[in-house]
Amino acid sequence: MAAVSTHPPHPKPRRQWLAACAGAALLPVARAAMPLPEITLRFSHVVAEETPKGLAANRFKVLVEQRSGSRIGVQVFPNGQLYGDSDEMQALQLGAVDLVAPSLSKFGRIGLPEFELFDLPFLFDDLSAVRRITLGPLGQRLLQGLERQGLVGLGYFDNGFKQMSANRPLLEPKDFVGLRMRVQASQVIAAQMRALGARPVTLAFSETHQALGSGVVDGTENPVSNFWTQDMHQVQSDLSLTNHGYLGYAVVTNQRFWQHLARADRALINQALQEALGFANQIADTQNASALAALRQAGNVRVHHPTPEQRQRLRRAVQPVQQQLASRLGQRWIEDLQAALTKG
Ligand code: LMR
Repeated sequence: MAAVSTHPPHPKPRRQWLAACAGAALLPVARAAMPLPEITLRFSHVVAEETPKGLAANRFKVLVEQRSGSRIGVQVFPNGQLYGDSDEMQALQLGAVDLVAPSLSKFGRIGLPEFELFDLPFLFDDLSAVRRITLGPLGQRLLQGLERQGLVGLGYFDNGFKQMSANRPLLEPKDFVGLRMRVQASQVIAAQMRALGARPVTLAFSETHQALGSGVVDGTENPVSNFWTQDMHQVQSDLSLTNHGYLGYAVVTNQRFWQHLARADRALINQALQEALGFANQIADTQNASALAALRQAGNVRVHHPTPEQRQRLRRAVQPVQQQLASRLGQRWIEDLQAALTKG
């Protein structure tokens, strides 16, 4: 069985390491031995290969190709090579790709604002609280909503908790005042930044590094694996470990494509995907931890830990965000969310 690498990110030779892997994948010997697949699934995503999402997509490919004897092939397009934040969902709806895994923050823009529940700051104390939503009826109801857009939601998985970065520590609300903070296209995240006194600027993930470097924006938020693999430490001097919000994903396919598959193929693909998502959930924490270790070793970013009191002040400042979301979605969604979280 071909092993899927979970290499910790390397401090410096990361790019060279990736280039070496990419080169190996193109060896003609490996290609000649492969029968041509009858079905090819195109899986597009916007992050680097050594993130939880990148590794899960690659593991999914290995599992599907092995179990189908290469009758079903998977082409993975990482790093927004094919489509970025603004067009990947449309590409899926049009059938230009077959699978995408956007962050849950990016479903509001296709008419599903209820996914922004996951963006509420300080909502989840830990990942087991996230599971109460994703594995329960509320999580299923959210996925079913995708049918309104001709899509099928196949499952959730984690990246982890987000941290704040800028060219100064961001430990309390006053630190955010006047900063332009890059955000994903989520009204909840935008409201969170406003509540902290910052100005949210919505930008595609692929544009973030450059926008930080050129001063178009001053700071951003993301789990450490995304921060590290986008080389954001080269354009940000301070990373504050606020753990203020959750970043997770849903894997989505096109209804027409999905229904067109033979039942047995659907089952094989779904089984491989659920295993790949379980794998991502297992490694997400360690990927973020090894990215943090690599960042510390690289030495060009200062890492800050807020005190419990500072975190409490951040939490208090963003409290109005929940009420704003309730007015947009209806109080019922918030009640269902609270009920699911307290069920234990
Ligand atoms: C983002 O900041 O846009 C990230 O959430 C991208 C991703 O898919 O992890």
